[in-house]
Amino acid sequence: MRKSLLITFLISVIAFSFTTKQEYQKIHIIPQPESVDLKKGYFTFNTETRLFLPEEFLKDLATYMTEKIINDAGINVSVAKCDHSVSKNMILFEKTDDSTFGNEGYQLEILSDKIVAKANTYAGIFNAFQSLRQLIPANARQFPGKSVRIPCLVIKDHPRFEWRGLMLDHSRHFQPKEFVLKQIDVISSYKVNKFHWHLTDDQGWRIEIKRYPNLTTKGAWRADRTGIHWWSREFAKPGEPMPIGGFYSQEDIKQIVEYARIRNVEIIPEIDLPGHSKALKAAYPHLSCRQDLLFEVSTGGRSPNNTICAGRETTYEFIDGVIAEIAELFPSKYIHVGGDECNKNDWTVCPECNKRLKENHLENFEELQSYFITRINSLVTQRGKTMIGWDEIMSGKGTPGAIIMAWRRNRYSPEVDAPRAGYQTIQASYTESYINNHQGPAYLEPEAPRGIIPLRKVYDYEPIPKVLTEEEAGRIMGTQVCLWGEFTPNPGICELMLYPRVLANAEVGWTRPLLKDWKRFQYAVEENFIRLERDKVNFSRSTYNPMITFTADTVQKIAVVQIVPDSDIHDLFYTVNGTDPTTKSPKYKAQFTAGLNTVVKAAIFNKKGLLLGNIVTQKIEIIKK
Ligand code: ACM
Ligand code: ZN
Repeated sequence: MRKSLLITFLISVIAFSFTTKQEYQKIHIIPQPESVDLKKGYFTFNTETRLFLPEEFLKDLATYMTEKIINDAGINVSVAKCDHSVSKNMILFEKTDDSTFGNEGYQLEILSDKIVAKANTYAGIFNAFQSLRQLIPANARQFPGKSVRIPCLVIKDHPRFEWRGLMLDHSRHFQPKEFVLKQIDVISSYKVNKFHWHLTDDQGWRIEIKRYPNLTTKGAWRADRTGIHWWSREFAKPGEPMPIGGFYSQEDIKQIVEYARIRNVEIIPEIDLPGHSKALKAAYPHLSCRQDLLFEVSTGGRSPNNTICAGRETTYEFIDGVIAEIAELFPSKYIHVGGDECNKNDWTVCPECNKRLKENHLENFEELQSYFITRINSLVTQRGKTMIGWDEIMSGKGTPGAIIMAWRRNRYSPEVDAPRAGYQTIQASYTESYINNHQGPAYLEPEAPRGIIPLRKVYDYEPIPKVLTEEEAGRIMGTQVCLWGEFTPNPGICELMLYPRVLANAEVGWTRPLLKDWKRFQYAVEENFIRLERDKVNFSRSTYNPMITFTADTVQKIAVVQIVPDSDIHDLFYTVNGTDPTTKSPKYKAQFTAGLNTVVKAAIFNKKGLLLGNIVTQKIEIIKK
């Protein structure tokens, strides 16, 4: 019995991979759906095609869908509520009651005379539409008004995880409202459904709180250190002008939240406490342990004394006021309160913090941190919300009932410890999902931290650690990529860091591991490059920049050179004589030896001979430290 089950399983895996291999040249949807059954024939989408929606979704989706179809296909369709007298040349979205679809799943059937999409929910209908959009040829808009052919097929689909997220940090560098709206629009095309918004940190408080105006009149602005390295910036001097910054008014927030709601994106605000609070302390110095010091918003990386007092009751009263307004503004059931990298130096010498420690029989300042976070947790739950915190909130006595965002790795293992301890957990791995790191050879990248997280590394990430039991694994809510803002001074650089890595994580969050396929994904990314370009998104092509590494033998004066491409669906050519590689140069197949001081150059070309990224250069030399 067991053997026959195994055989059936193996046959279906083989059959499945056979279909995908055949189909992946044709059907490029990111994230890869659960099943795609390609049929013969095409649906022809033209100016006569009519689109029908359930009446309850008309108000939210009619304009959105019309605009997207003009944008994607150059076709102006009429959108109306379901009309059962029409049966041909239509796209029908139907709300059903089929439990197999779940909250976000759908079925999309393309027949030669009509398209029928079914789902239980708004989210499912929205997701079906996103898959349909990606079936429209990426260059269709170049021929406006011309009919578009969509292959006949049946897609049945639902996500692996409920949390498929992106975090943006707009404290370190404020970005305009229009930028935020644009990113929500782009990520929602890939069924990313959570936007975690890091709104406060040492370098700026970015959200208007009506009862505390100083947070944005003072806390949103800092002294200008443009052009000086982030980690070497001098502190602001007393009386210095504070021209750098900005904030989102409550009207802005409402507009952004509504825009996101239409796009099935939930916005989770983060107010980072009790550390990372220099801007908060600059605005309201009474929240500090050190009443003898005056604070300014940090100008860059160095932010000592950035923790607020956990001893005084006024701290908790103040935070309750912030949470009250945040809870009103954001319909999400979650509020993220940070809790990371809490520097406790001020606490150890603060009489109020020490008093709090003693009165509550706390063993140490780690336990004062869990006391603080537990108090904040109850403020959050009193407002009917669930608290999320970075994994440091597990320290001390932990914070039962909170959700852990597991970011640390190497010396720490919150990705395992949190679900084992019974916490609902969101993976935000700093080794795989921190997309503020470079994505190719560093010298060709914009300034960033030193790590390299190429597209494939994001794609290959598996959010459920193997060692977890099924029950523990069930506590993993999903995964997100995080773009920290230290080195993203403007929208163009932000987008360069975001795309295409956001697409890789979209698939990590949606697609079951068995269906993931790096090669197929790369073809799909290339097709989506055309859409991103059409939509004026500044994506990165670093996946085409191979890494050249070597191990040198200083005695023999020789090195073993390896060229590691991220993108591996094209051809990699190299030279060792200082000239630029062309398609006539040697094709890279395996590691080779080269003498010291050799200049190795490598580049990826497509089958048409087009250079796809940069020519990467690496001199084989020993750099003495
Ligand atoms: C973090 O990276 N400090 C959450
Ligand atoms: Zn204190």
